[in-house]
Amino acid sequence: MPAIIDISDLSKTYATGYQALTGVDLQIREGEIFALLGPNGAGKTTLISILCGIVRPTAGVVRVGGHDILRDYRAARALIGLVPQELTTDAFESVWATVCFSRGLFGKPPNPAYLEEILRQLSLWDKRHSKIMTLSGGMKRRLLIAKALSHEPRVLFLDEPTAGVDVGLRRDMWALVRRLQMDGVTIILTTHYIEEAEEMADRVGVINKGEIVLVEDKAALMRKLGKKQLTLQLQAPLAELPPGLMRRGVELAKGGEEIIYTYDASAAEGEHAGIVSLLEDLDMAGVAFKDLHTTQSSLEDIFVDLLKGGR
Ligand SMILES: Nc1ncnc2c1ncn2[C@@H]1O[C@H](COP(=O)(O)OP(=O)(O)O)[C@@H](O)[C@H]1O
Ligand SMILES: [Mg+2]
Repeated sequence: MPAIIDISDLSKTYATGYQALTGVDLQIREGEIFALLGPNGAGKTTLISILCGIVRPTAGVVRVGGHDILRDYRAARALIGLVPQELTTDAFESVWATVCFSRGLFGKPPNPAYLEEILRQLSLWDKRHSKIMTLSGGMKRRLLIAKALSHEPRVLFLDEPTAGVDVGLRRDMWALVRRLQMDGVTIILTTHYIEEAEEMADRVGVINKGEIVLVEDKAALMRKLGKKQLTLQLQAPLAELPPGLMRRGVELAKGGEEIIYTYDASAAEGEHAGIVSLLEDLDMAGVAFKDLHTTQSSLEDIFVDLLKGGR
């Protein structure tokens, strides 16, 4: 798949002197759903704002659909729809006027049938004559999505789309995102909910302190992340693992007081067999334990682990 967005060596230092992005290289493939995961302050909004021409990069090159976002701003920007993190809306306009105006801004000829379809998909059609100030928070967010789609962009950015959003909107949003993908639209969403990435994305990128620390296919990432651990507290500490217990995933911890067995949580069948044979081998080796417990690395743990550079 060709890259529709090509970011190379992008850096941003704000006027305060704060370096929000450092040497970001990232290619987004045409037609994919890409989730950019990162904690608050990681630089997600800064990155999206640069791609949309709202924030000026300090260094680096960004191309959208082959257009340089600085030298060829209008052509690049016309390909992009942005659903911003913050709600910003002109209170006195009607819903219909807002989407028509937004489309016009990009020099697109009127297309009432298309705008109607978008509003219907977002359950906003009945509100088309309402003034924005009368809409609920959820409706305003739907309108931001409709606005972002009004000029039929090829790339859609959703910046923390589901933070503080109700279940109905969340469901509608994902359904819409899937439909857009089927129409060939490329979708980039930022989130600090790893579950969201898990549900939607084809690929996941992790950003921390302004640096991309990982980019991977979701399936591979989830396999890697889905680890479980069995911890055995030994009755007597061991200086080293007995030969009969040396195998993949088994290690001595806490100065020899614990044995930790780490295994793949997705291998449900192998899990039981692996534990049973480990316990048999412990018995054979004459190692007694006084307690055992299992833990599953929470998505939170995994995330923290990734950000620390462990893996
Ligand atoms: N206009 C600005 N001026 C100075 N610092 C900023 C500005 N915007 C964002 N920052 C800082 O840059 C860092 C990244 O912010 P942001 O891109 O909003 O992160 P995220 O969206 O991942 O939460 C934060 O430390 C933030 O305080
Ligand atoms: Mg943000």
